[in-house]
Amino acid sequence: MSQSPLKQLRILAHRNLIKFGIDVRKKRKDRIVLEKQVFPELLRNPNYQSILFVGCAWYTLHYPDLFRSRKFFTMEISQDEAQYGGDRHIIDSCEKIDQHFQPNTLDVVILNGVYGFGLNELPAIQNTLSQIHQTLAPSGLFIFGWNDLPTTAPYRIEELTGLNAFTPYVFPPLQSSVYESDPKNRHRFHFYRKEC
Ligand SMILES: C[S@@+](CC[C@H](N)C(=O)[O-])C[C@H]1O[C@@H](n2cnc3c(N)ncnc32)[C@H](O)[C@@H]1O
Repeated sequence: MSQSPLKQLRILAHRNLIKFGIDVRKKRKDRIVLEKQVFPELLRNPNYQSILFVGCAWYTLHYPDLFRSRKFFTMEISQDEAQYGGDRHIIDSCEKIDQHFQPNTLDVVILNGVYGFGLNELPAIQNTLSQIHQTLAPSGLFIFGWNDLPTTAPYRIEELTGLNAFTPYVFPPLQSSVYESDPKNRHRFHFYRKEC
């Protein structure tokens, strides 16, 4: 997809300045929660070594570097967005996670802003949840971020029955297993564990 010169400039600025700690992005509250509360906990906990981040965009391009001490995989369906993935990038749909990872091997899967942003059909969503459950290690962490708005949530959360395979997990920094991070876009983070 072609980008306007202004957007290209913004992306170039972000790519080059973030290395020096200069952040030119405009961030919503949910992004701040993800980066300032969720990521530090993942980096603090030595159990979280093998991490899959699904869905890449220009504003996530520095995530692989943040997680350089970990085995950080990125996965994105669109070839165009591959430029924002890391060295361990997979171009494929998250419905096919099982074709890239062995069962019980991932310590963390982050599916943030993908449900309702391309992953919109119920069978595809259920398939993805099932693949995530299969590939997560016992006690692995699943972070599901979505916007609870009619325009961005094609189904009610109760209809995503694949989530029932997981156990809600109280994520220590947020003291909750469900966290509404931004009242404007109703972005929610749900935290789950795969039972041993
Ligand atoms: C809103 S963007 C960025 C999401 C990013 N994970 C974040 O934290 O903001 C959503 C991305 O998900 C990707 N996507 C949509 N459906 C997908 C699927 N089935 N498998 C992998 N990526 C998908 C889209 O191509 C798009 O780049």
